[in-house]
Amino acid sequence: MAEVVVVADKEAAGELAAESIQALIAAKPDAVLGLATGSTPLPVYRALARRVAAAGTDVSHVRGYALDEYVGLPAGHPESYRAVITREVVEPLGLTPSLIHVPNGAIATIEHAGADYEKAIAESGGVDVQLLGIGTDGHIGFNEPGSSFASVTRVKTLTEQTRKDNARFFASEDDVPMHCITQGLSTILRARHLLLLAFGEGKAEALAGAVEGPVSASNPGSAIQLHPHVTVLVDEAAASKLRNIDYYRYAYAHKPAWQKL
Ligand code: GLP
Repeated sequence: MAEVVVVADKEAAGELAAESIQALIAAKPDAVLGLATGSTPLPVYRALARRVAAAGTDVSHVRGYALDEYVGLPAGHPESYRAVITREVVEPLGLTPSLIHVPNGAIATIEHAGADYEKAIAESGGVDVQLLGIGTDGHIGFNEPGSSFASVTRVKTLTEQTRKDNARFFASEDDVPMHCITQGLSTILRARHLLLLAFGEGKAEALAGAVEGPVSASNPGSAIQLHPHVTVLVDEAAASKLRNIDYYRYAYAHKPAWQKL
C-alpha cells in the first residue's frame, strides 16, 4: 500500500519531497525525474531549488520527462506545459534545458508524438521518481476517468470539469484547449517511485478514492494501488476523507530509521 504522510502544510510536503529527490540526485547525478505541472508540485520545486543551491548539488546531468501537454497551443504560449516546466522547474533549479522533455503537442506531428515520447522514456532507462498531483475528478497526468490502466502516451479529450478547473490559468474557459497529450497510466506505473501530493479539501474525495477506493478505470488515481512504491504527501484537509488515517499516522510515527520515503 501507499505510504501516506500527513504534513502540516504544502511547504512541509515540499521539503520532504525535495529532500528525497535531492538524495536521489546525489546518488545518481543523471537521475530521471518525472515532472508534473499544476499548482500542487510548486512547493517541491521551490524547496528543491533552495536545497540544491545551498548544497551546491550538481544538477547539470539531471534528466526530466513531463507528464503531459496541451495540444495545439502556439509554441511559447505561457500556459503550455513546456513553458510552465521551463519557468517553474528548469530555470529555478538550473537544469540543462536539452535534458528536459515535454510531450510535443504540436498538431503537425501529433499522430506519432505519443509513440516518440514512450520511446524517449524507455531509452532514458525509465523514470526514477514521478511527481503526481491529482485532479478533482481523480485524474493523474491528464488521464481522465475511464482511462485504461494499460494506456501509454496518447492524445485525450479533457473533461469539461478539467477545463473548468484549469480555466484559472487562461483568459477564459473557452481558451483552455480541448485536447491534451498525456503519459498513460501504464507509463506512469513504470516509474520506480511515485510521489503523489494533494492539498486542500477540494482534493479530499479524489485522494481517498485513489488511496482507498476500488481499483477502477473510473478513478484513474486508483492506479497507484497497483504500484509497489508510492508515497502520498497530504495536508490535513486533503487527508480528511481517508478512513485509515490513524494507521497511516501510526505507521509514519514508527517508521524505521533506515527506511527512506
Ligand atoms: C492538471 C494537470 C495534472 C494536475 C492536476 C491538478 O490538469 N494535468 O497533472 O495534477 O490538473 O492540478 P492542481 O495541482 O493545480 O490542482
